[in-house]
Amino acid sequence: MAPRCPHAELHSAEFHADPHAVNQRMVEEHGPVFPAEIFPGIKAWVVADYSLITAWCRDPRTFRRDSRLWLDWREGRIPDDAPVVAMMMHRPNLLYADGDEHARLKRVVVDSLGRVPESRIGDITRRHADILIDAFCQRGHAELVSEYARLLPLLVLCDVFGFSRDVGERVLNSLGDLWDGIDVIKANGEYERALSDAISAKHASPGDDITSWMLEHRAGLSDEELLAQLVVTIGAGAEPTANLVSGTVHTLLADDDVRQAFRGARVGIGEAIDQVLWRDPPVNNYPVLYPVKDVRVSTGTVIRAGEPILLGYAAAHAAMSGGGPDIEQGNRAHLAFGVGPHRCPAQGFAYAIAQVGVDALTKRLPDLRTAEGAAQRRPAPFALALAALPVTFTPDPPKGTTPPWQQTSPSSTPTTSTGRQPSSEAEAPSSKLRSLVAWLFGR
Ligand code: HEM
Repeated sequence: MAPRCPHAELHSAEFHADPHAVNQRMVEEHGPVFPAEIFPGIKAWVVADYSLITAWCRDPRTFRRDSRLWLDWREGRIPDDAPVVAMMMHRPNLLYADGDEHARLKRVVVDSLGRVPESRIGDITRRHADILIDAFCQRGHAELVSEYARLLPLLVLCDVFGFSRDVGERVLNSLGDLWDGIDVIKANGEYERALSDAISAKHASPGDDITSWMLEHRAGLSDEELLAQLVVTIGAGAEPTANLVSGTVHTLLADDDVRQAFRGARVGIGEAIDQVLWRDPPVNNYPVLYPVKDVRVSTGTVIRAGEPILLGYAAAHAAMSGGGPDIEQGNRAHLAFGVGPHRCPAQGFAYAIAQVGVDALTKRLPDLRTAEGAAQRRPAPFALALAALPVTFTPDPPKGTTPPWQQTSPSSTPTTSTGRQPSSEAEAPSSKLRSLVAWLFGR
């Protein structure tokens, strides 16, 4: 038998096929902190214990977010072209900031997101959910990750951030390319240019939207600072929420216990959402902590100053007694949104989008079921996500909701909705997404 690797290979096929089994083995062998390799040659620690994650995240003097402390990077051992570097390199946004700088940036984001009432998020989500379902409901089958889950949170965010039709279309397409790893440098540039154009537009004509509120905030962010916070907030918001939507639908359809409890009305969509947050947290092994001094854990393991520590939420949840609470207990004490000063500022958004998005789907297509060759995990060291979720259902007529950008558009030629559907079958993921986006924007 081949000897076991001394560290968890978060980039390996074994991890992507069953991350929970790898986590369990590592915790059994090493205890609450185990060694990992994020990418060949890039080493880190995973903290897989609820109390340690909580304590370390609440001790920002010892455990910093600023990745310029990363020992291997400072000593030149990290290749610039390693794909994980993009997720770890320091940027001037709140995720990588500590202390007063973090508090100042966080206040802007928290105050501005907090001005959107949850009922408004629900209404906007419902409208976009209906539009997306209209695009495939007559077909009797769909692939819910690319045709629904990925687009829904982005459409909602474009709406509440007050993006124009042009900016919205560019944000959707560039983030789609970034997710699919297509021409990522170009896509990243396009994403940032689109958000920079949104800031210029709000200077000229502020509105009742999050971008304008961030611009007007008393903290007085420069345009550069604002751009950096927009880049992370839209990016950090869209992908995990997409993964929560697809994960919840999958749990409701494919987990026998949950399906039966849901059919028997013993649990609702809210409990299924929390089940995903406990079992498959959409953000996992992320963000990264960098200790400013050597840290010794109970097993004797020593983490040296500047060595990256990944927050292993899934491993920590699974290591709790009984593998975490029962689905029917409605317990939200999970770590899926982080803990401490960096805790996610948008849980209300995430729950509302997932709740309404899954509700719209299950109400309009009540006999939804997973199709042959069903769900597969997306290979990713920092997320637990489905790559695809093929489903079938009894075809249903569209509601005929017209996408808002097609209704009124002063800056471009309006297009009437003709009931035409996006040509999305038998296409590569990126062209499928682009054709859906083009349809949404009436092109
Ligand atoms: C299911 C959906 C979501 C999950 C699971 C999630 C999870 C997380 C986690 C784990 C963190 C890091 C916490 C830490 O550093 O300790 C975080 C931070 C953050 N999230 Fe979320 N998030 C979600 C949705 C959103 C949405 C919808 C938005 C924006 C509208 C958002 C914006 C942010 C921002 C700006 C941060 C950085 C906070 C900071 O560093 O202080 N997230 N989120």
